[in-house]
Amino acid sequence: MPSDFALSPEQASTVAGRVDTLYYFLVAISIFFTVLIVTVLIYFAVKYRRRSNYERPRPIAGSLALETVWAVIPFGIVMTLFVWGASIYFTISRPPENAMEIYVIGKQWMWKFQHPEGKREINNLHIPVGRPVKLTMISQDVIHDLFVPAFRVKMDVLPGRYTTMWFEATRPGKYHLFCAEYCGTQHSGMIGQVIAMEPLQYQAWLSKDETLPVLVTSVERTPDTSADQKSPISPEEAGTGLESASTGGSLASEGEALFQELGCNVCHRPGSQGRGPDLTGIYGKSVQLQSGETVIVDENYLRESVLNPQAKIVAGFRPLMPPYEGRINEEELVRLIEYIKSLGKE
Ligand code: CUA
Repeated sequence: MPSDFALSPEQASTVAGRVDTLYYFLVAISIFFTVLIVTVLIYFAVKYRRRSNYERPRPIAGSLALETVWAVIPFGIVMTLFVWGASIYFTISRPPENAMEIYVIGKQWMWKFQHPEGKREINNLHIPVGRPVKLTMISQDVIHDLFVPAFRVKMDVLPGRYTTMWFEATRPGKYHLFCAEYCGTQHSGMIGQVIAMEPLQYQAWLSKDETLPVLVTSVERTPDTSADQKSPISPEEAGTGLESASTGGSLASEGEALFQELGCNVCHRPGSQGRGPDLTGIYGKSVQLQSGETVIVDENYLRESVLNPQAKIVAGFRPLMPPYEGRINEEELVRLIEYIKSLGKE
């Protein structure tokens, strides 16, 4: 399709062309059959109109050939669509192994992005072209949905559970980013930009040492854990919600600091001598639970185990860990998870 073809937004990701081809195929099939059916309908209505009150039509006893044709052709068409659509779906739903990871936190009404190197942005997402990018997303409040039309990707962002999405931008540029799930009065304002850059430019952008605003979240620390930088905030402040960042190092190193601050390291010690499981290299592995079940350690499992440790106790350990539900916010959780993922990954 030429780029000024206005039926769809510009194609700026590796899957965009495939999605559009399928879409245009669907439209073509629909047009073809609409025209065919209407034409035949009109033709038959004229040809077989009743010419006199005494006319009796000839009874029809069925036709195997005709019935076979109208069963086999649609079957072939829908199976083509199914296989074609499924193959695109599999591509879109499975991030490549080598994808770079960015965390996304949605809240009424803004998007917060956290790069693993420690950079944060609000409503803007800088990415390199020619490299798969995986977004791990969660909402702080209601259901949102991240939609980048030029990339042809769209995914719900839910409270309480991480969802993922990935894309690979093919050309530099600025692309719209929308919230595609009605989420309250300012839903239509929950928009932003994806800025796709050449890899070198992106590296330069990453290493630029600017202090980006960090969002203050509405979860306040309980006094015993509030030894860190954040002060309680008023609702007005939470609305604009900007505070200058204490940007130190990477997300993982911030996670490590938090891990120690919260005292997690007291029990989760390398070498399995602690009261909690050793977390080194645990990400991506499967662990046996007390219930006999086995779970894969992914972001959602780690999240649940921090917030509500009693939910899934690892075999051989006692339920000693206190729940952190309400004591840490989504951004802190993301740091902790990124830290745990980085353990044993040298
Ligand atoms: Cu967030 Cu609509």
